[in-house]
Amino acid sequence: MSGRGDNYDPKQVAVLSEEAVEEMVADALAAFEAAGSVAELKAARAAHTGEKSPLALANREIGALPPQARKETGRRIGQARGRVNQALAARQEVVSAAELDQRLVAEAVDVTLPMDLHPAGAIHPITGLIDLMSDVFVAMGWEIAEGPEVEAEWLNFDALNIHADHPARGTTDTLFVDPIENHQLLRTHTSPVQIRSLLDRPLPVYVVCPGKVYRADEFDATHVPVFHQIEGLCVDKGITMANLKGTLDHLATSMFGDIRTRLRPNYFPFTEPSAEMDLECFVCHGESVGNPERPCRTCRSEGWIEWGGCGVVNPRVLAAAGVDPDVYSGFAFGMGIERTLMFRNNAADMRDMVEGDIRFSRSLKGEAR
Ligand code: PHE
Repeated sequence: MSGRGDNYDPKQVAVLSEEAVEEMVADALAAFEAAGSVAELKAARAAHTGEKSPLALANREIGALPPQARKETGRRIGQARGRVNQALAARQEVVSAAELDQRLVAEAVDVTLPMDLHPAGAIHPITGLIDLMSDVFVAMGWEIAEGPEVEAEWLNFDALNIHADHPARGTTDTLFVDPIENHQLLRTHTSPVQIRSLLDRPLPVYVVCPGKVYRADEFDATHVPVFHQIEGLCVDKGITMANLKGTLDHLATSMFGDIRTRLRPNYFPFTEPSAEMDLECFVCHGESVGNPERPCRTCRSEGWIEWGGCGVVNPRVLAAAGVDPDVYSGFAFGMGIERTLMFRNNAADMRDMVEGDIRFSRSLKGEAR
């Protein structure tokens, strides 16, 4: 390349002739025209307008011309570059519009085509209700505890003060795991988690354990052999029945809104005193009681329905788990999730809850959550 002040070199500077410059422009225009895509045009642009393009190189030669020739040549090259740039811009528009058209055609969606939609699933209402009930306790700072479904007979019964001759321990009620001498069973309630929690955790203990339980029961509208319970256990200093009542009332109103509850004396070997928590019948609100003209099927005209068992933890249970009953006391409760779903969401038949029909889950979607 020649530089400013160099001697005139006709061989080099021949690239500045009118014909040579016209040819460069013609080459550039032809290359742009031939470019059929944005990518090709980009390559053509680099070749014909880039730093190493013939026109850019020619431009650099202007300095080597005698001063009187510079102006004319400069204008020629400038105009040539202007034409090339204009042609490039015009072609760019055409090519990108064509590419967009092509993409629109390729990506077109025919919204009238029939679809093969896979129906979206739904959270099972039992799972939803477990989450909802657990959340009430988590919000109060309780922990969620878990235990195995195949449980040691000792934890399911003995540690809970349920003696060897208790009817629940018979094979007609309880599903034992073969061989029976191994003393393993499918837990009949979530209460063994009371013992596990006390053995596992430092005091005080505030846990709820939702989970599956098993009983050798019929399979009908109100019984299923595999169902769910939620167990609660609190062991701390100075816990009384009043704490139990307040906690369960809070759970009841969280689940059912403004509802009356009552504790009715009952017996469980692992709590003393023990009670059954009843809910005011949400169908007749007690109006069927003593009113044969308006019987209520839901509460059998009793005005109350049984929700779950509860009581103050029997000191023997605390002792079995190594807790000093003279220092600590606690309460426990356990209720069926299926039963709660029946009351809360008007699910009349428990079999719907195990059959896995998506329509059942969908019908309660959003409600049992
Ligand atoms: N485990 C009892 C049942 O299955 C319920 C219960 C739990 C009762 C905790 C009292 C305390 O019926």
